[in-house]
Amino acid sequence: MYKTHNCGELRISHDGNTVILSGWVHRVRSLGAMTFLDLRDRFGKTQLVFDEAIDKDLLTKAADLGREFVIRIEGVVRERSSKNDKIPTGYVEVVVQRLDILNPSEVPPFTIEDDTDGGEELRMQYRYLDIRRDSVQSKLLFRSKVAQAVRQLLSAQHFTEVETPVLVKSTPEGARDFVVPSRLNQGSFYALPQSPQTFKQLLMVGGLDRYFQIVKCFRDEDLRADRQPEFTQIDCELSFVDRDDILEIFETFTKTLFSSVLDVQLEDFQRMPYEEAIEKYGSDKPDLRFDMPIHEMKSLLPQGGLSILDLAESNGALLVKGGNDYTRKQIDALTDWVKRPQIGAKGLIYIRCNDDGSTKSSVDKFYNEEAREAIKAGLGGEPGDLILIMAGDYGVVRKQLGALRIHLGEQRGLVDPSVFKPLWVVDFPLLEWDEEAGRFFSMHHPFTTPSPSSLEHLESTDPKTLENLTADAYDLVINGVEIGGGSIRIAQRSLQERVFRLLGFTDEEAQDQFGFLLNAFRYGAPPHGGIALGFDRLVALMDGSNSIRDYIAFPKNNQARDVMLDAPSRIDNEACATLGISVHEAEE
Ligand code: AMO
Repeated sequence: MYKTHNCGELRISHDGNTVILSGWVHRVRSLGAMTFLDLRDRFGKTQLVFDEAIDKDLLTKAADLGREFVIRIEGVVRERSSKNDKIPTGYVEVVVQRLDILNPSEVPPFTIEDDTDGGEELRMQYRYLDIRRDSVQSKLLFRSKVAQAVRQLLSAQHFTEVETPVLVKSTPEGARDFVVPSRLNQGSFYALPQSPQTFKQLLMVGGLDRYFQIVKCFRDEDLRADRQPEFTQIDCELSFVDRDDILEIFETFTKTLFSSVLDVQLEDFQRMPYEEAIEKYGSDKPDLRFDMPIHEMKSLLPQGGLSILDLAESNGALLVKGGNDYTRKQIDALTDWVKRPQIGAKGLIYIRCNDDGSTKSSVDKFYNEEAREAIKAGLGGEPGDLILIMAGDYGVVRKQLGALRIHLGEQRGLVDPSVFKPLWVVDFPLLEWDEEAGRFFSMHHPFTTPSPSSLEHLESTDPKTLENLTADAYDLVINGVEIGGGSIRIAQRSLQERVFRLLGFTDEEAQDQFGFLLNAFRYGAPPHGGIALGFDRLVALMDGSNSIRDYIAFPKNNQARDVMLDAPSRIDNEACATLGISVHEAEE
């Protein structure tokens, strides 16, 4: 028997009990005639005592113990003389009567403490040791708790959990695929799924009505704090629903999840059209925890002033409440910030709203007090505020000011980390022009249905008209993070074929790539739609973090490598030959 109790369990009520515990040696403090040892398992820590007065041999044996040894002990619980009320077991200790060393440990490459001395790369290489740390383990436990709540909530709503295949067919849309060579079909490759999108639609054709899956997805794309090459979705699909049904069902789902796991009551989700999100926040995932919308001030500015402002399609501005407290140096730093290649702005114009009611700007030569006052009044500026202006093409200015807005929100402490501000972004464009490829791509994916008002314009050849088509697609955004996305799907074969044509597919190519889906639509496909929530992102957000890597047991690094496994790695010539891949090709 390894244990009668775990290391987080013993209390004063166990005083006098004989117990057996197993775990890792966390810390040893030797005081000569007595040795104190913290024994750790995933449930907590318990203090052990080796006392010369009770067993001299045991005390000698304990001297051999080092950090991370795995031991089993038998002993008697007693009340501690000096209590520790910071841990649940802090009122008791176990006087050891028998010690078994189950496995010794070398000195670990970093200390297994919350405040560790191990760098990121080293901890990734020894991830199993990193996972022993409370701060990492608690994140995995939290993830598991959310997963359980998700399963419970969706099952209660009659969603059936179905596993879809992992060896699938490569498709040209979306991100880049990870591919897997086929031994039995040499020269052919499977792809790992970027999402189970077409399968879940086929399950609706199959009559399953409501499907969900907590599922691994694979995308060969550049990594960021909120992106991993393999990540997990809560993937859902429903039949006989329209957009509002889905938004309502998943709003309730999200609210219930937050209240059951975090005891947080979310307010009703605002619904914001994509166009408004871009216009006001310069982003399709606005962080609404603070205000400071973007203002268009083209009509406020008198012509004949600064030519970059006159000639630009858009003059966007942010009104920074209380921002006149920025020194000149700080405003210069903001200007340098927006001029970095990541943002790419040409410059930043400012107008200070002074306490005495006057204004002072970086462009006083071009705009007199009256003109500046008109701008201030138009934006609702008050003494003490700062106005920041950028000029350029509409979309570019929105994006740059959107980034500056987030930067200012963080810098000025406007973002309350304990608040959750969810919203639905709706009415996404159907198509997105790709300059490099010289064609339209689906903004969501090719299975998304155009919104009813856009259907009649699908045959248009005018690029402007096509750019303005909207889709029955929606994103769930919380605190500036895209948590999920979905759409109502096309269920008619002819409409799906028309959308493929819009995307530049010939009928043969569409049949070749997506024939299985087009054929399924011949046999009575129900109206259907769905959503996928990024599970890693959701869990990280709920736990107050923006790094999804911490919530994945074995994550990849920024080069998409698993440094512990040293993967990806080369495979030998023989294995290549079996797979029908020439070694030369593999090295290219
Ligand atoms: P989409 O591509 O928007 O939709 O993905 C859904 C959600 O998955 C998360 N996500 C990621 N999380 C971590 N790392 C990544 N590389 C990554 N990529 C995406 C995001 C995103 O909102 N099949 C459709 C859904 C549907 O239409 O029902 C889909 O996959 O949180």
